[in-house]
Amino acid sequence: MTTHAQEWDRYRSQTRKSVEMYARAERVLPLGVSSNFRTYEPYPIYIQRAEGSKMWDVDGREYTDFSMCFGAMMVGHANPVMVKAIAEAAAEGTLYGMPHDREVRAAELICERFGLEQMRFTNSGSESTMHAIRLARTYTGRDKVMKFEGAYHGGHDTVLVSVKPPKAKLGPARHPNPLPVGQGIPALTLENTVVAQWNDPLSVRDLLEKHENKVAAVILEPILMNVGVMPPRDGFLQELRALCDEFGCLLIFDEVKTGAKLAWGGAQEHYGVKADIVCLAKAIGGGLPLGAFGARRELMDPIAQFHSFHAGTYASNPLATTACVTALDRVLTRDVFPKATALGDALAEGHNKIIKKHGLRACAVNLGVNGTVFWRKTPPTNYREWLDQDFAAFWRYWHMNLNRGVIPQAQCYDEQWTVSAVHTQKDVDHMLSVFDEVAREMA
Ligand SMILES: Cc1ncc(COP(=O)(O)O)c(C=O)c1O
Repeated sequence: MTTHAQEWDRYRSQTRKSVEMYARAERVLPLGVSSNFRTYEPYPIYIQRAEGSKMWDVDGREYTDFSMCFGAMMVGHANPVMVKAIAEAAAEGTLYGMPHDREVRAAELICERFGLEQMRFTNSGSESTMHAIRLARTYTGRDKVMKFEGAYHGGHDTVLVSVKPPKAKLGPARHPNPLPVGQGIPALTLENTVVAQWNDPLSVRDLLEKHENKVAAVILEPILMNVGVMPPRDGFLQELRALCDEFGCLLIFDEVKTGAKLAWGGAQEHYGVKADIVCLAKAIGGGLPLGAFGARRELMDPIAQFHSFHAGTYASNPLATTACVTALDRVLTRDVFPKATALGDALAEGHNKIIKKHGLRACAVNLGVNGTVFWRKTPPTNYREWLDQDFAAFWRYWHMNLNRGVIPQAQCYDEQWTVSAVHTQKDVDHMLSVFDEVAREMA
């Protein structure tokens, strides 16, 4: 059995150029990275290139990638169809500051696929949820927004609340304390974010009653994916729909991670529940920075009436919208989802067999193209249960996988694997054979 310290030594010895890069990076970038989600101990590997389901780091080591940039690369790395379309688009100019044909086509495809009448483009998931919330506030004339404990909806103040709150400060299960992420969130903003318990309709009802006529919207990921893969209990989304209607607030589905991934039409299609506003990003951009938010026309009207502000220099840039059209029209077609889901299910089944064989205290789940290993006996159903797991085991698992050429999921224990349009049975077999070795070492 190797110790974690031995694995770190192996990591260091195999990633010498990454160490050098890290030393340079740290001088000019806090933590040596451009997004805090990319940092981990002792330092991250620095990537040189990617193709298909593989990535190569600056040391020339090959990895089978099941992170796929936190699921954004659903089209696969450097997919030739995408590369050709993006290269051709680049030759026609990358930014016009004026409307153009590709954004119209991309918007038509998105509206059709996600059951929207109108939508606007953004550059990221954070911007999509920010604008969706502003729109909901404008439409309802209310200030408060309800979110769920443990959920992440991007980097703006209203939703940077109770994302990974510390156990000691959680408060009552049904009425969780709203806790800011770090500092710099104004107290007034915090007052406008109501935090409810995932999978608990009574928590939602109690809080909507308590803040009656003040809550503009309930925002949620239809599957909580800031804590692995945590599906809604049977009927929970339907209950949320009914509660929003009863209390006159809007239901916002943050489909940044589920849109064009969980199913062709995302979570609305998968669960048969219709949201008022849908937020998108990641997969729809085909690897370029693109987000969107949309709704029925009447709900989008405040934008057309200049009542709810939306604008952006880079919104709908020709490269990103070309990538979007290509991804939705030619790569993320209907046939992709059952195939990728079957591979994801095989990953979870394979992991569970190996977990049992080696007697690990863990369990694997998969839903659609996303799955994860929880380092506890049974899958958790809310953030508080999720906290109760062996995070040290996750980090051993993470480093051991990297050392053996697999990126098993996006970095950190709160993430998940993504089976993209280009992953194959061979990738699944490779990941499982590495996990068998890792699990034997961990047992
Ligand atoms: C559910 C969800 N919403 C919003 C965001 C923010 O998206 P972005 O990082 O593009 O701003 C993320 C990012 O991971 C996310 O997972």
